[in-house]
Amino acid sequence: MTGPTSQSIDELVQTALGELEGIDNPESLDRWRVAYLGRRGSLTQVLRGIAQLDVEKRREAGALGNQAKRTLEERLEQRLQQVNQTQQEQAFIRDQLDVTLPGRPSPIGRLHPTTQILREICDAFGAMGFSVVEGPEVEWDHYNFEMLNIPKGHPARDMWNTLWVDYQDPSNSRSMLMRTHTSPMQARVMESSQPPIRVIVPGKCYRYEATDATHEWHFYQVEGLAVDDGITFADLKGTLYEFARRLFGEERRVRFRCDYFPFVEPGVDMSIDCFACKGEGKGCRICRDSGWIEIMGAGMVHPKVLAGVGYDPEKYTGFAFGLGPERIAMLKYGIDDIRLFYSNDLRFLRQF
Ligand code: DAH
Repeated sequence: MTGPTSQSIDELVQTALGELEGIDNPESLDRWRVAYLGRRGSLTQVLRGIAQLDVEKRREAGALGNQAKRTLEERLEQRLQQVNQTQQEQAFIRDQLDVTLPGRPSPIGRLHPTTQILREICDAFGAMGFSVVEGPEVEWDHYNFEMLNIPKGHPARDMWNTLWVDYQDPSNSRSMLMRTHTSPMQARVMESSQPPIRVIVPGKCYRYEATDATHEWHFYQVEGLAVDDGITFADLKGTLYEFARRLFGEERRVRFRCDYFPFVEPGVDMSIDCFACKGEGKGCRICRDSGWIEIMGAGMVHPKVLAGVGYDPEKYTGFAFGLGPERIAMLKYGIDDIRLFYSNDLRFLRQF
């Protein structure tokens, strides 16, 4: 009968231990265990073979075999601990939080140029005693036109290209629209309060407009209204002059020319002398050679508008004005296309 010799047991142990050294993960360790110590493992087979040896050899081989089994089991246990520890260390290094790394800066936004200008405008009028109110962007035809002395069928309606909303109030057949200007708030404010009134109304407006460098289908306006006993055209001029100086510099001059808006009488457009060419005019791109830049429409509130909200036009007078903040921003910052404001191009927006 041939059976394991001490030499073959020794060789097996050497091979097994040699393999064990090279193993670095628990899965392979388990495979190694099955291969040598499992029920059909090589060492297990060898131990079984011992039974077939002669009594003499059996004792010696049995002792050797048991010793071999213990050695493999012990070394497996050691190796398992080593492998686990190395894996833990590696995981620790991998997942470690390095508190010395500089943080990633989170991107900080900034105010939109329109918002910046709106704030400047509100600050300037706020300093002169005007308070800020806001109104609906979807408006009744009644406030957008009728109350502003622009009845249905009046040719002045053509001054505003209107986006109509497909809805009519069944109780009074009023139509709805996207407000074409902030002026409807004149009537709303007067209806809900009594003089003295001093308000400005910043807000979004909409028009059915083919867009180009100076036209957008949505844009902002700032409306202004002052109504009291004894307000005159001199108050209008003084207030708007002060506004122009605050926004465009102390040395600004202003010019008023007649203009027509149905809700004021007289109506004017106001210009400032060009801050780029100091009013020289010639060859100036900003004012297109004229030396003057129109910045808003204004006028004395029409008696019909006052009467419409139940004010006595004999007792109260007032002035109103409307200006476009994008236009003011374009002038101040030298922007040549109004469409840039709302095209969401960060390269444009980051400049402000
Ligand atoms: N609402 C006018 C427009 O959109 C601007 C305007 C002109 C407003 C004269 C006023 C004003 O209050 O008095 O064209």
